[in-house]
Amino acid sequence: MAVDLLLGLQWGDEGKGKIVDVLTSKYDIIARFQGGPNAGHTLVFNGKKHVLHTIPSGIFHEKAINLVGNGVVIDPVIFKKELLGLEQHEIDYRKSLFISRKAHIILPTHRLLDAASEAAKGKAKIGSTLKGIGPTYMDKTGRNGIRVGDLEMPDWKEKYRSLADKHEAMIDFYNVDLSYDLKQLEAEFFEAVELLKTLKIIDSEEFLFNAQKEGKSILAEGAQGSLLDIDFGTYPYVTSSNTTAAGACTGLGVAPNQIGDVIGIFKAYTTRVGSGPFPTELFDEIGETMGRVGHEFGATTGRPRRCGWLDLVALRYACLINGVTQLTMMKADVLSGFETIKVCTSYYYRGEEITHFPYSLDEEYVTPIYKELKGWKEDITTITKSDELPTELINYIEYLEKELQIPISIVSVGPDRVQTINRKNSALSLG
Ligand code: GDP
Ligand code: IMO
Ligand code: MG
Repeated sequence: MAVDLLLGLQWGDEGKGKIVDVLTSKYDIIARFQGGPNAGHTLVFNGKKHVLHTIPSGIFHEKAINLVGNGVVIDPVIFKKELLGLEQHEIDYRKSLFISRKAHIILPTHRLLDAASEAAKGKAKIGSTLKGIGPTYMDKTGRNGIRVGDLEMPDWKEKYRSLADKHEAMIDFYNVDLSYDLKQLEAEFFEAVELLKTLKIIDSEEFLFNAQKEGKSILAEGAQGSLLDIDFGTYPYVTSSNTTAAGACTGLGVAPNQIGDVIGIFKAYTTRVGSGPFPTELFDEIGETMGRVGHEFGATTGRPRRCGWLDLVALRYACLINGVTQLTMMKADVLSGFETIKVCTSYYYRGEEITHFPYSLDEEYVTPIYKELKGWKEDITTITKSDELPTELINYIEYLEKELQIPISIVSVGPDRVQTINRKNSALSLG
């Protein structure tokens, strides 16, 4: 059976966690393929909010298997905290959570290196979540990393020591003011590793081959968003993994011809957390309202998210790179009350109007060109049927479908599981 993908089309935080949770009843396996604890995926149901960082968003469904794939980087300390959080909800993760032997481990010194690198960059900092993501992927591609499978080998602590010693020398090289107690961090780390070692550690690609052969349905869950992709995002203000569809192939061992639906998820407006260009960013009352009504604060770092209008140039680009077949529009409720809704349809870029995503999104080169649509006043958070949505919102949805030539199958009108509307004739049933 084909493997479906769900991934973010903007700068992350599109609402992936919510929709994966909603769709999990349709799938046997939910698999994360990249990123790590830089992600913060929020799920809301039965009046409770849950934030997951490394654990896939299908974990609250009893029947689903949740797999942390080889493309993910795991911080055992954060992972342990997440597991303890699940225990409170009586989730039997020992039965339903599987971890790839080939996933890389974030060491305490990776986190310190992240902080040192950011401090050394000063104003040019990436705005990293400081979870050690960049340094861990650097060690992966530099062929120095420690993988989950190494933890089962007798010599892993020697490997650890030599890598951590090298990291300490690198931290000194940055010559920044960074105080830390490595002994304390290591004690916490080694303790968390012991818990990790008791979980179901598997050869995940083999597991997925067999699952496919047996006809099991699989949904791959992306983290971050396409505009944070290491190759196709707004480099260098990106994360260190391939967040786009190809990342699911390398991050799980799924062959490209096994990919089925690619579900692209986007907010009805745009947000970004951390540094980097953002052409449609608003610095006025409208942007402030989006942030306030949408509770736009990072689920991992608590930082306020920058807000702005929907950018169709960027969205079209993300749809093409990922081969998106179905769209999911999130947070339409946040736009209720605006007189007009603006959509960026092209850029004025270095002297000409363009509709493709250019090499640089820097403010000095890019000026967004907008189309205006009529807004709606109604509170839509209790609407359950797509034909009950305000006409102006339906017009907005149909306009985007026409521009992107991809159906918007789901419209989300609030954070809760139940605030999810399946559009008429949608190819994507909610299960
Ligand atoms: P993710 O990283 O893509 O999983 O997204 P986050 O969880 O970081 O951010 C999405 C935020 O929006 C969370 O606080 C969600 O609870 C919330 N959310 C998701 N969908 C909706 C929606 O349709 N309307 C509103 N108002 N909030 C939503
Ligand atoms: P989810 O999965 C939004 C951003 C950071 C920073 C840049 C690099 O919740 O959508 P990193 O820690 O990866 O080195 O940071 O990427 N970033 C995210 N922004 N949502 C995320 O994940 C993000 N993960 C990283 O803010 O700008
Ligand atoms: Mg998030």
